[in-house]
Amino acid sequence: MALEGVHRSYMLGASPIRALRGVGLRLWPGEIVAVTGPSGSGKSTLLNICGLLDRAERGSVYFDGTLLADDDEAQRTLLRRRAVGFVFQSFHLVPVMNAHDNVDYPLALLGLPAAERRRRVGAALDRVGLAGFGKHRPDQLSGGQRQRVAIARAIVKQPRLVIADEPTASLDAVTAGQVTTLMRELAHEQGTAFLVATHDERVLPHCDRALMLDDGLLAGGHHAA
Ligand SMILES: Nc1ncnc2c1ncn2[C@@H]1O[C@H](COP(=O)(O)OP(=O)(O)OP(=O)(O)O)[C@@H](O)[C@H]1O
Ligand SMILES: [Mg+2]
Repeated sequence: MALEGVHRSYMLGASPIRALRGVGLRLWPGEIVAVTGPSGSGKSTLLNICGLLDRAERGSVYFDGTLLADDDEAQRTLLRRRAVGFVFQSFHLVPVMNAHDNVDYPLALLGLPAAERRRRVGAALDRVGLAGFGKHRPDQLSGGQRQRVAIARAIVKQPRLVIADEPTASLDAVTAGQVTTLMRELAHEQGTAFLVATHDERVLPHCDRALMLDDGLLAGGHHAA
């Protein structure tokens, strides 16, 4: 994933809010990269563009070395389903579905055969330490367990990129540490790049790099550890 000179504004009333004002970055496979910066600096806007949920209004977006056409929504959707996983602050699990079915959902969208899906969902739940919790609904799990289900859902299709927007903000210190360690291990094991927006001091030491956004501009990367 790479961005060059990306701009994104929101029209709100008469004057546009310039959320990103020319941002460039490049993510390598297996890296875990933090995006920090004050509230309103553009972190979620940046993640939405990297995760192919939104498009740049100006600038270039590359995925796996391919320049994406801004007006090709179908290409973005297909790539997003195949190659991007998401983790959010408030988990975004489907409340009426159990953990197994939540993790299975992205595989069902890809149309994989049932036996293959069952095998992969079992392996993903096992990997996040939740073997045996497949039948639990989100309201029957703790916050940390819910976030681990969300991580299993993000990685089950073995994506190239996982986008995590404030993944530890709703978790206590111990659980936040477990979730962060898990993300780092998965990045290294699977070669998945993780882009993690965070204010959390507990997350930064586990990242390979931290990028700092300030008012829609990147202040440049530095080594977090
Ligand atoms: N859908 C929207 N419509 C209008 N303005 C928006 C929209 N989404 C974001 N903005 C504005 O764009 C700017 C960047 O917002 P963004 O959500 O990317 O910030 P953030 O760094 O993620 O903040 P936080 O740490 O509070 O989550 C802010 O000024 C915000 O008010
Ligand atoms: Mg945000």
